[in-house]
Amino acid sequence: MKNLIIAPSVLAADFAHLGSEVQMLHASKAQWIHIDIMDGVFVPNISFGFPVLEAIKKHTDKFLDVHLMIVQPEKYLEQFAKAGANMITVHLEACPHIHRTIQQIKSLGCQAGVAINPGTPVHGLQDVIADIDLALIMSVNPGFGGQKFIANTISKTRELARMANASGNENIWIEIDGGVSMANAPALIEAGANALVAGSFVFNSKDPKETIAQLVDLAK
Ligand code: DX5
Ligand code: ZN
Repeated sequence: MKNLIIAPSVLAADFAHLGSEVQMLHASKAQWIHIDIMDGVFVPNISFGFPVLEAIKKHTDKFLDVHLMIVQPEKYLEQFAKAGANMITVHLEACPHIHRTIQQIKSLGCQAGVAINPGTPVHGLQDVIADIDLALIMSVNPGFGGQKFIANTISKTRELARMANASGNENIWIEIDGGVSMANAPALIEAGANALVAGSFVFNSKDPKETIAQLVDLAK
């Protein structure tokens, strides 16, 4: 199993000071930066798009973990790859041809992730689990930061970890996104999660860099 990754979500940053927020993340122990793209159709909120992703890329060489909460993501994969995405994660619910979409992401030289909403069972990933670099379990309904963690995510994580092992894909990232904090991170790691997204828990804390360091230290 891979080492723990912490991926702070820029969604919770102060967009009026995005440069210094990204500098803080760059200087922190976070290995990845999580970028939430929302289209107002797949989710009831709009975040930001290519210009912001490109701007972030200019200020850091950290791994950019791009989470697409958009319909028809296949239309924009090339643009996201060009804008600097390292990982592109699409939602299973948004992709009728998920196998093809995964291949498209890989052909662009990016790693490929698939996300599932709280109402989507883990077994929906069964037929693609061996082909993907990352599986993301949403632990809130996507669209907003700062929501309450949905408790059954722990058992979904355990089920996904079992499924990944059975498929032979022991190198997969199992990422949890939404309401992650010190209160649930240890249980998530114990259940098999190895990538944790944290938005408001990091950015609303007194010392975001120190909060990131504490999350990274959970790997020990
Ligand atoms: C929610 C996004 C999350 C969000 C997490 O739709 O996918 O990445 O930024 O924020 P917190 O950690 O505040 O729940
Ligand atoms: Zn996200």
